[in-house]
Amino acid sequence: MISLLSHLSYVAITSPDVEASVKFYEEQVGLTVVDRIDGDVYLRCWGDYYRYSVVVKPGPEPSLATMAWRTTSPEALEEAARRVQEAGIAGAWVEGNAIGRAFEFVGPWGHSMTLHWDAEHHHAEGEAASIYPDRPSRRSRFAGAPRQLDHVTIATSDVDAFVRWYVDVLGFRFMARTVLDEAPISVFSVLTTNEKSHDLGVVLDGSSRAGRVNHYAFWVDTREELLIAADTLMENGTDIEYGPSIHGIGEQNFLYYREPSTLRIELNTGGYRNYVPDWDAQTWKPSLGSNNFYRNSRMPMSMTESFPPADGPSATEEGVPDEIKDALLNPYAAHGRG
Ligand SMILES: [Fe+2]
Repeated sequence: MISLLSHLSYVAITSPDVEASVKFYEEQVGLTVVDRIDGDVYLRCWGDYYRYSVVVKPGPEPSLATMAWRTTSPEALEEAARRVQEAGIAGAWVEGNAIGRAFEFVGPWGHSMTLHWDAEHHHAEGEAASIYPDRPSRRSRFAGAPRQLDHVTIATSDVDAFVRWYVDVLGFRFMARTVLDEAPISVFSVLTTNEKSHDLGVVLDGSSRAGRVNHYAFWVDTREELLIAADTLMENGTDIEYGPSIHGIGEQNFLYYREPSTLRIELNTGGYRNYVPDWDAQTWKPSLGSNNFYRNSRMPMSMTESFPPADGPSATEEGVPDEIKDALLNPYAAHGRG
């Protein structure tokens, strides 16, 4: 298949309190507001190449409104739309802010995706302009401010089938997966459209609610900046949910925290680049350190929460059987690995 998608361009999320979320992105994360249109707020990281990378929309619950990918060409946009429709998904052509004509559809597991070719390239002027020609705007003065949007990780009831569909229909590269030590159940996979180890993550969702998101992530240039961001968040009263540490899959340094809507945000840096077109995706086990490279810490229970919250007490993450949840959270103790 010809390459259809080039990279994740923005995520649109909902928040019950848009102003509280926007204030957090400005004051705790280091993003800048660029547009306010019909109640939606558009924000950017200092190094994002296009006008914005995050849209905060009003909504009753934290959720992923859409995840947007830029195609590799105008022809690739038409081809991607054709392939989605051929796969039985109707979709619709829409006009987006600073992205022109875009194809929006809801995938088989309930996740909205927006594909576009046009994109307004950002060139800051005046105070915000960089002295360096390749930078869309000057480096943020905010400690630990992310340079760019990095990836999004959704939740789905069938990780392997989700991967197959997005590989077959849209040409994502399948990079790695995690299967439980105890049972042949896929709990995590990573897909990419470029040299990054992933720009789309997939976690198992034990709930009956479709279209959920687990987190989305920003990129900082160095591990030092990630540690400074962790320090700054702590000083500003924001709890760190998990990390800083290193993932086995992808080998990125990671740090997780929550924004006021409770939606989870990750900061990433480091990791390997992989541009092998016929990469052979390997199967990891939790005990091999798929989530934690050092195999020495437990993932907090809260990390299994996805958004919006699952409906009803019987259909929450508790839909994941206890023994599987235990294995996910504490694989090292379960396998006697120190
Ligand atoms: Fe992630």
